[in-house]
Formats: sequence, structure tokens, C-alpha cells
Amino acid sequence: MKIRVPATSANLGPGFDSCGIALSQYLVIEIGSVTQKWVVEHDLSNAIPRDEKNLLIQTALKIAPELTPHSIKMSTDIPVARGLGSSSSVIVAGIELANRLGNLNLSVREKLEIATEIEGHPDNVAPAICGSFVVASYADGQVEYVKHHFPECDVVAFIPDKELLTSASRSVLPDEFSYQEAVKASSIANVMIAAVLNGNLPLAGKMMEKDLFHEIHRKHLVPHLTEIRAITQELGGYGSYLSGAGPTVLTLLAPDKSQQVAERLKDLDTTARVEILAVDQEG
Ligand code: HSE
Repeated sequence: MKIRVPATSANLGPGFDSCGIALSQYLVIEIGSVTQKWVVEHDLSNAIPRDEKNLLIQTALKIAPELTPHSIKMSTDIPVARGLGSSSSVIVAGIELANRLGNLNLSVREKLEIATEIEGHPDNVAPAICGSFVVASYADGQVEYVKHHFPECDVVAFIPDKELLTSASRSVLPDEFSYQEAVKASSIANVMIAAVLNGNLPLAGKMMEKDLFHEIHRKHLVPHLTEIRAITQELGGYGSYLSGAGPTVLTLLAPDKSQQVAERLKDLDTTARVEILAVDQEG
């Protein structure tokens, strides 16, 4: 039995803690035989537990504490702590593991509610569960969400060779926001979302670059963001934004431009990984 969960990119600029897309990189979990104790085989860093302390098993046991231990194979091409939803992918896989082994018959909404409660915000877990583009809110303990097709485009990911923990990237955000700024910031987010729904990626990309909620406070943590935006503009991409809490920057563009942009981004920093991805419309 296999579980596959896509990478995700949260925020899309101004859709902070609310918007996200699913991407064509995956965490794959293979459920093996019943064992005495949980075993998680993987070839990732030794810092990632290979027993029941693994986040995958911890998540599953939170939902179904009586689950019978199994051997699990875990493989992923989602880079860790780069803003591409690696921990969300494990949480979502853990929920699905409990769902399948415990025959829980969880609905999509139930999975999303559990995942959001664990993660604290729905912007990565929602597209990890639903695929495509999801706009979600988490207010007064309730999750509401809308899934929508994302317009066809390529996504060039510039993935720096250094981790940036979400906690560190959230610690630079302000506690307060003036009413005037909030109105301006949400109007930018609203137009970004409406443009995506209309299939208008040039306008969506423009609004992604105008975010006032978080990028403005995180810019100093990701100095390459400004350079990437300059290249995107020069070569006619739709827009670039900090993927989730960073440090990855995603550029949305027409497929005929992605190779050229990727080559230019590689020149920026030879230690960074540059990958051409697609939006996973199915999840
Ligand atoms: N919306 C979150 C953030 C995504 O930007 O901090 C990362 O968890």
C-alpha cells in the first residue's frame, strides 16, 4: 500500500497563511508488514528518527493511538526546511496512514481540519491534501477552503543550499499591523486570488510581488529574492515570490521561458538547486 503526498508552496506572496499550490515533487510512503515496533526506513539525515518518534508515526498515533506497528519505507524528493512543505507532507501522510490502517474513512474536510490543527495554518496542508490551488481560512477553530484549478504555467524553483526554519522566519514578523496597512495588504491578496481564478497569471504574478504581510519583513533573510525578481522581469516571467517561509523562491512563467530563466538563476548561486516544476492539479 502506497501513500503519495505532493510538495507545496504556501502564501503565493500576499496569501499569507491562506493560499497554496501543490507541486510536482513527492513524499512516498510504502506500508510494509506488521512488526513488533514501528520501523521507518529512509535514506535521509540521521536526525530524522527511524522509530515511532518519526513525525509520520507521531501524527498517525495522535489520531489512532491503538494502531498496530508496521514497517514503513519513506522516500522523498521534497527538500527539508526550504519552504516547500516537507513537514506538512509528512503530517498529511501520517493522517492518511492512520486513515488507511485504522479504517477511519476520514473525509477530505476532516483530514484538512486535523492537519491544520497540527500545523497551525492551512496553506501547505490544504494543497498537500487537495492538490492544485487552495485558498483556506482557519478562524475560530474552523477551517473553510476553496480548491480551484491553477492556470497552466511552469514553476522554476530556486532552492538555496541552506535551511531556513519556519520558526526563525516567523520570528521576524511583527506582532501588530495598522488598520490602514491591513486594508492595503488584503486588497493586494484579493486581487491576486481573483486573477488566479480568472486565469490571469500576468496580473496574479504582479500582485504576488507586492505582498505586504511577510516578504517585506523576511527580505533580509533571502537576499536573492530581489535579484531573482529582476531576472524574472527582464525575461518576461509572471512573478517571483518567497515560497512559504523560504528560503526557496518560486518563479511562475510560460513554459517556453522556463529553461532560459533556470539557466540565469543557476548563475546566481552555483550551490543552489534550480528545478523546473509543475503545479500538481490532482494531488
Ligand atoms: N505561511 C507560512 C509562513 C508557511 O509563511 O510562515 C510556512 O509554514
